[in-house]
Amino acid sequence: MTEPTDFEIFLVTHPGLESTLRDELVEKRFSAPKIEAGGVAIRGDWPDVWRANLEIRGASKVLARISQFRVVHLSQLDKLSRRFDWASILRETVPVRVQATCKGSKIYHAKAAAQRIETAIHEMLGAPIDPDAELTIRARIDDNICTLSIDTSGELLHKRGHKSAVAKAPMRENLAALFLRQMGYDGTQTVLDPMCGSGTFVIEAAEIAAGLAPGRSRDFAFELLANFDDKAWQTLSAPREPTETAVRFYGSDRNAAAIDMSQTNAQRAGIDSLAQFTRQQVKDLGPPEGSPGIVIINPPYGARIGSKKQLHEVYSAIGQTLMSRFVGWRVGIITTGNSLARVTGLPFRKPGPVIDHGGISIRLFSTGPLGDGTTQRTGHRRRGRRRSAG
Ligand SMILES: C[S@@+](CC[C@H](N)C(=O)[O-])C[C@H]1O[C@@H](n2cnc3c(N)ncnc32)[C@H](O)[C@@H]1O
Repeated sequence: MTEPTDFEIFLVTHPGLESTLRDELVEKRFSAPKIEAGGVAIRGDWPDVWRANLEIRGASKVLARISQFRVVHLSQLDKLSRRFDWASILRETVPVRVQATCKGSKIYHAKAAAQRIETAIHEMLGAPIDPDAELTIRARIDDNICTLSIDTSGELLHKRGHKSAVAKAPMRENLAALFLRQMGYDGTQTVLDPMCGSGTFVIEAAEIAAGLAPGRSRDFAFELLANFDDKAWQTLSAPREPTETAVRFYGSDRNAAAIDMSQTNAQRAGIDSLAQFTRQQVKDLGPPEGSPGIVIINPPYGARIGSKKQLHEVYSAIGQTLMSRFVGWRVGIITTGNSLARVTGLPFRKPGPVIDHGGISIRLFSTGPLGDGTTQRTGHRRRGRRRSAG
């Protein structure tokens, strides 16, 4: 077995967001995106792997599928693992580790499977095996078919590399980017987050408007591979001047530390001239000048905020403020369930898919342009009386 020149590349994302990630891959001209559970498969070569890591916002990992074979015994796995031309991909001096999973297969002992492949790599190539290695080979044995992939990203891709300060409950950048996409954000609308925490939505939106690649400030595991072409990578990833944009981005939060954090993060991301952060309670919020844009909010869910009553007060303040002062704006709220969303009284459409975010199920509730209080709302029933526009 030798290294293929055109192979399958799998971009991992949160289950439920696969089709939004596929839309991003189509927009960024990747070849033949195909939805699978937990991600999207494309076809390409190593430069496509590098570009996917650099440019795709919605993925958490990029896996290069380097080999696939049928296997029913550990001894057969040992033999077939030795047929792969590891020297074409791995360096003998770079430590590596193997992670295996087994499902519906005669080989059911994942640790033993990983050890067989590690031994094959070590004996064939001499590469050190280290459980803490930056470079990971994944072996998925599913229905007696073993797929070997290289984790080409290393650290999860939501770590953009320019965030120094993180709030208590930050939204992962790749999730934030996909939620913005689900809101129809394309870099031309104003985006405002009145509970901005560390500034994730505002910074992602501003970077998209400025045409900045999400991976421009970080390293990737593929840089450790034998086939890595540093010169080609330097050309592909050369720093680009931000695109001129007249659009502005706004974040506010009641917490002064959150505002400091957002400002620092925006500076490090190089988009501080496009973003404005203000310490403010949501109830005191007003729309910035200019055309209506998108309000996106990831309010507290409950685990960290005292009582249910306090939580309802926060959601009710969001609804009252937006309904009365944000005519023409579209609103997206990411929260845990219908009951909290309903407290806002906002005219939500059918909610988005349920997403697992660090063990908590969340989903996007979104509206069309908010009316002036005279139009009929659609979607979920609203409790209480409609407020008139302010
Ligand atoms: C879940 S965190 C948002 C995290 C943010 N999306 C991020 O990625 O860092 C919720 C934020 O809402 C803020 N907050 C809570 N109640 C508020 C209120 N009444 N007005 C303004 N901000 C509030 C908190 O200070 C916190 O930063």
